[in-house]
Amino acid sequence: MTGIHDFRKYKQEHRKISMVTAYDHAMARIVDESVVDCVLVGDSCAMVMHGFPSTVHATTEMMALHVAAVARGLTRKFLVADMPFLSFRKGPQAALECVDVLMRAGAHSVKLEGVRGHEDTVDRIVRSGVPVMGHIGLTPQSIHGLGGFKVQGRGEAEAAELLSQARLLQELGCFALVLECVPAPVAARITRELAIPTIGIGAGPDTDGQVLVLQDLLGMSGEFRPKFLRQFLHGRDAVRSALDRYHAEVTGGTYPSEKESY
Ligand code: KIV
Repeated sequence: MTGIHDFRKYKQEHRKISMVTAYDHAMARIVDESVVDCVLVGDSCAMVMHGFPSTVHATTEMMALHVAAVARGLTRKFLVADMPFLSFRKGPQAALECVDVLMRAGAHSVKLEGVRGHEDTVDRIVRSGVPVMGHIGLTPQSIHGLGGFKVQGRGEAEAAELLSQARLLQELGCFALVLECVPAPVAARITRELAIPTIGIGAGPDTDGQVLVLQDLLGMSGEFRPKFLRQFLHGRDAVRSALDRYHAEVTGGTYPSEKESY
């Protein structure tokens, strides 16, 4: 299993890291059989699995159910769990209670968004022996404050602020850092300056690794087609055509056959 020390080693060896989300047991088992390095139970499950308009709707209880289902499907993958909206903004004690729930559900590490204003919480979690992955750039839990799903760090000052947040998260002991929707040159600079690996999503080719939402890379997400997304399968078409065939064979009387009957 890839552990936190492998992440740093991979960076030193210029070996890219692949991370993918998973939210349910069946998909987790398939991801486990793949060569992908690492699994994230993202709070994007609120959108992908529950149909909410943003990740603001994820709760600790929701995350714990998905983490437990995914953890039961993994035998050899490092599992990161997202701390949901505000769970790390109510002080270190409340944050540690959320970490407690997620780790007991089967996570090996937690990820949380941003750093300004909750530095002490990141520090407490790290010093409690729980690996922390940072996440800066487009932080979807702040979507209303950011005014939409927009690329972050475009201007000089914004880019410098991102670099400063990245350094701070490294100093606080994060083992890796997600950079979401950041101009490629800014992500490249942060990646060069940090000893810990960066994992990009919409952050160009020069980060130390990449993460995508599983349903997006499988082409299951329909109209969601941001510029950075490559679909590695046309999942919607494949599933729809299987369903159409199933319907046709049921209504045509060819399913089930004699061989498929007791
Ligand atoms: O929740 C999520 O899926 C994420 C990734 C997109 C990085 O945070």
